[in-house]
Amino acid sequence: MQKLATPSNRAQGRSLSKSTKYQASTATIDSSSESMMTAIDIANFNAFYGTFQALHDLNLKIPRQQVTAFIGPSGCGKSTLLKWCNRMNDIVPIAHATGSLKVGDRNILSRNTDVVDLRRQVGMVFQKANPFPKSIFDNVAYGARLHYKISRSELYELVEWSLKKAALWDEVKDRLKSSALGLSGGQQQRLCIARAIATGPEILLMDEPCSALDPASTARIEDLIFELRRQFTIVIVTHNMQQAARCSDRTAFFFEGKIVEEGATEDVFTRPQKQQTEDYVTGKFG
Ligand SMILES: Nc1ncnc2c1ncn2[C@@H]1O[C@H](COP(=O)(O)OP(=O)(O)OP(=O)(O)O)[C@@H](O)[C@H]1O
Ligand SMILES: [Mg+2]
Repeated sequence: MQKLATPSNRAQGRSLSKSTKYQASTATIDSSSESMMTAIDIANFNAFYGTFQALHDLNLKIPRQQVTAFIGPSGCGKSTLLKWCNRMNDIVPIAHATGSLKVGDRNILSRNTDVVDLRRQVGMVFQKANPFPKSIFDNVAYGARLHYKISRSELYELVEWSLKKAALWDEVKDRLKSSALGLSGGQQQRLCIARAIATGPEILLMDEPCSALDPASTARIEDLIFELRRQFTIVIVTHNMQQAARCSDRTAFFFEGKIVEEGATEDVFTRPQKQQTEDYVTGKFG
């Protein structure tokens, strides 16, 4: 079991951990090293459900400490790719994949991948908030208790840090022992983000995190993505074009299991290279 890098040490870019997990995300990046700049490197990647091929020969480098949006019509494979990035598809017996999907320098499709450790490194937030039927405190503390040897005071510090990062602390600090299920939908989604960042992931995957939220809660989550963007690598799936344009640095447009176009968000939205991309971002289909 590892020792946790405390939030205060994290903020200073130092780590108490034996592993390099947090150092990796806070180290000075050598701009000459492409692999250091890439959080997820997808090459010749194909994904299948039984004989149905959902993703075809994808090649994509997701840059570190930036926000990448996946856009595209329903059924084009956005969630499938996201779920492969932390091996959530392991629970689907008919799902398999070929090619290479590297997080850091390891191909996580390998049989030897430690999936529990991978999910600490690559956190995920789902479309529908899914807090555990536990207290607010225990939800956020859950992963840290699982992965780290941590004292009570460190745990409290971590829960407070995570809830503050997720812009929820002020609303819940007086009821940390209350059930998480008593929170509103928007609060539950922010709690799930707090839970995801509490284990110190380098990458945060968000699959339509705002689709069940009202405009005010959506705005809060978008602010949060903006706030977290330089500390974590974020990949967000969204059907909301304005959201992709507002929140992301880069955008990948998917269509029928292929990446049609990928680039700086501003370029994809204002000067797309492909007609299909233009038709989609201007609302002509999808
Ligand atoms: N568990 C599964 N079993 C079989 N086929 C699946 C499974 N999950 C997804 N698929 C199929 O794979 C394709 C891609 O689905 P995926 O959920 O990745 O699309 P998506 O782009 O996320 O769509 P949406 O925007 O509606 O969420 C679809 O044709 C879908 O029916
Ligand atoms: Mg989806």
